[in-house]
Amino acid sequence: MTSTMVESSVTARACANIALVKYWGKRDSALNLPAAGSLSLTLDALVTETTVTFDPALAADEIELDGSPADARRATEFLRRVRLRAGIATHARVVSRNDFPTASGLASSASGFAALALAASRAAGLDLDARALSALARHGSGSAARSIFGGFVRMHAGPTDAEAFAEPVTSPLLDKVRMVIAIVGGGAPKSHGSRDAMEHTAQTSPYYRAWLELVPKDLAVAEAALARGDLAALGEVAEANALAMHCSAMAARPAIHYWQPTSLALLAEVRGLRECGVSAWATMDAGPHVKILTTVDEAERVQAAVRVVDGVTAVTISAPGGPATIVA
Ligand code: PMV
Repeated sequence: MTSTMVESSVTARACANIALVKYWGKRDSALNLPAAGSLSLTLDALVTETTVTFDPALAADEIELDGSPADARRATEFLRRVRLRAGIATHARVVSRNDFPTASGLASSASGFAALALAASRAAGLDLDARALSALARHGSGSAARSIFGGFVRMHAGPTDAEAFAEPVTSPLLDKVRMVIAIVGGGAPKSHGSRDAMEHTAQTSPYYRAWLELVPKDLAVAEAALARGDLAALGEVAEANALAMHCSAMAARPAIHYWQPTSLALLAEVRGLRECGVSAWATMDAGPHVKILTTVDEAERVQAAVRVVDGVTAVTISAPGGPATIVA
């Protein structure tokens, strides 16, 4: 181990992703191993850019998020893992910027830890392949393993540390889809962090076991839909899977509730759009926002319909995003 490395700085960008088959529950919390696989779409509208500088002059890691000093615990723990792997002892300065509301259920931990994994590993002198990078990012946040890749992405549950990585899934649907993101309540910080909330669900929800039995079946349906380019089948399983995840969390004691009245109004609006023949399916994560899977051609119609729902403060249309990249 050497503590005398010269200053080394790398900037990386990563897009957030939204799961179509959700990750909700861990097999091993120390290694952050998921209890089941998941499947997501990387989004180009939600981007994190992170610069990591290993600087021998630093006595401790310094983390800045969106211009303010941030709670360094998770990022420092992550940097410790990178240092151990690279055989260095140098502390780092991390400057990270999100172009969307942080910690509000908009997957900022996914793009954040994917960008951190790429920038920190490179700055530390490691040259990891995409799978190893994905498994490393998973230690920061389970969903971050998927943000290493662009487009549709499948996360594997392991069982070992090295086997719990994500990989891209090709589909004729990739250039046909859009995600419409309806922000509810201005992107305020979420009520329960996903890490604690999924552990609480696993420990107390009578529906957690049923949830875990459902995920492999939904993954098989989603992967078959992707392979044959069947958006309706993908949308149907995605919406049903999100509702099942939220119901398992709501049945925890005490309940984990992410839905607000506006979220419910949005879910009803999406059902109404479908009744009018529009291709639109909703999904939700650890926050009140509703993301709607739709087509390139129908995205603006969906945006116009959800923009006027009372309590919606912003609506963004996102195309599929690319993989995490080094920018400097
Ligand atoms: O990556 P985490 O620990 O923030 O968990 C993500 C949990 C969900 O967003 C609700 C689902 C998912 O698969 O992204």
